[in-house]
Amino acid sequence: MRNFIQFLYRGMVVILITFFLLIPFATPAEAAPVELPPLPYDYDALAPFIDAETMQFHHDKHHAAYISKLNEALEKHTSLQNQSTEALLKDLSQVPEDVRKTIQNNGGGHLNHSMFWQIMKPQGGGTPTGALAEAINQTFGSFESFQEQFNQAGLGQFGSGWVWLVSNPQGQLQIISTANQDSPLMQGLYPVMGNDVWEHAYYLSYRNRRADYLSNWWNVVNWPEIEKRYAAAQA
Ligand SMILES: [Fe+2]
Repeated sequence: MRNFIQFLYRGMVVILITFFLLIPFATPAEAAPVELPPLPYDYDALAPFIDAETMQFHHDKHHAAYISKLNEALEKHTSLQNQSTEALLKDLSQVPEDVRKTIQNNGGGHLNHSMFWQIMKPQGGGTPTGALAEAINQTFGSFESFQEQFNQAGLGQFGSGWVWLVSNPQGQLQIISTANQDSPLMQGLYPVMGNDVWEHAYYLSYRNRRADYLSNWWNVVNWPEIEKRYAAAQA
């Protein structure tokens, strides 16, 4: 009998130790926080059109800050953590009111900048080709006319914001501008390309000369990437 009690006692001890050892693995895994995507080239790769210090601050400080605030908001609502930032911005009405504006601003900031780094490259510029070139010519008359209208929209955006070439639900191209970090996705429009006209994007080199920044920016545009985005929007 005594042996049997000892056997039971030892068995319970083993079960309890196993239980406590397994607790960390039994805790439901939290969704991974949003991470800062690496800049796909060196800070000075877009010089002289965009200087290295601007690129470093823009990516490492500004973009990182949007992500940090986005993650803080997502931490408050586990139900949002399984959804992509794109999905949240497409339907902000589903986002709880206490974090809606934070996700609009910082989710938008994260997505807009993630695209921005990709649609620029060293030795960029030139003109688009293929279906995008055709659509631009059909919509705006010529590539030069498109550039002029895009620059004007960027110049006309009062205060901070973005100028965009978007594809609407009918697959047609449009130039729009948005305030702050608002994403075209919020209006049901797909951002094919966009230029950041916040002062943090150009002020160190260009000071208040936004028009010069807008016209120089075409030298770093990554058309092959933008053509891919246009094809995705049409699919
Ligand atoms: Fe920016």
